[in-house]
Amino acid sequence: MSSLLKITDLHVAVDEKPILKGVSLELRQGEVHALMGPNGSGKSTLAYTLVGHPKYEITSGTIEIDGTNINELDPCERARLGLFLAFQYPVTIPGVKVADFLRHAVTNIRNPERKEGEGLIPMREFRKELKERMEELGMDLEFARRYLNEGFSGGEKKRMEILQLAMLQPKFALLDETDSGLDSDAVRVVSEGLKKLSGPQMGSLIITHHERLLEYNVPQFTHVMLAGKIVETGNAELAHELHNHGYAAIRERHPAEAAEEQERQAKAQTANAGF
Ligand SMILES: Nc1ncnc2c1ncn2[C@@H]1O[C@H](COP(=O)(O)OP(=O)(O)O)[C@@H](O)[C@H]1O
Ligand SMILES: [Mg+2]
Repeated sequence: MSSLLKITDLHVAVDEKPILKGVSLELRQGEVHALMGPNGSGKSTLAYTLVGHPKYEITSGTIEIDGTNINELDPCERARLGLFLAFQYPVTIPGVKVADFLRHAVTNIRNPERKEGEGLIPMREFRKELKERMEELGMDLEFARRYLNEGFSGGEKKRMEILQLAMLQPKFALLDETDSGLDSDAVRVVSEGLKKLSGPQMGSLIITHHERLLEYNVPQFTHVMLAGKIVETGNAELAHELHNHGYAAIRERHPAEAAEEQERQAKAQTANAGF
């Protein structure tokens, strides 16, 4: 049976400021969902909350995987249950190679009872698997010997994300893609990589405006966020429409949330101005 990630009436605050105001969404293994919405609507907040970032406080509502409430679980425990977030800004870890990083990550997921200092998954087994996955993705094996994120181009950072996805094989992949700063190579890497990895075993929630990403990975569901709420859910056509025409129609159809959005922006500007 396929697994279900179920979000019910989720309210989230950051530094006591309410950001998400009642988000409900069901993502099944095997489904592709797009999450869209103007800047500041709360898309990244939802992604970080799902993986258990400590800054994001759930004030009410639930996140469940197959009926188990995961609100209180730490990020590692959530990863073991099959949740994966590809970060917008992956970090550089000095002296750690791509392959080392992946070997640790894979061990932590597959061997949850492992104590600090106990063995990693055997090198030979890991190497074989890594090689297979990289070949499937058409990646140069040399890439695994690079230092993690050190001098990575946009495309290489994306390659890293896709390789992580391929090795960890999460049930639920959350992809939070910035729309600025991704060159066409990077967009192609994620678009094609994600398509190759998609199948009945993986559900994905793709946060993006990139037409290409959604052309390669056609969403069954498109959700639109405005001022911390999902105001509309449609199919791939909705994503297409938003890409071509922007959010004006959405704001018109949801005047209360549009007003809330304006209010939030005004407050942020006041705060930035140092008042
Ligand atoms: N770590 C944080 N600290 C302070 N404010 C935050 C933080 N994360 C998000 N916010 C605020 O929450 C709102 C939603 O942001 P975000 O989730 O990043 O939106 P999106 O990803 O849709 O652009 C914004 O007003 C933003 O300023
Ligand atoms: Mg964001």
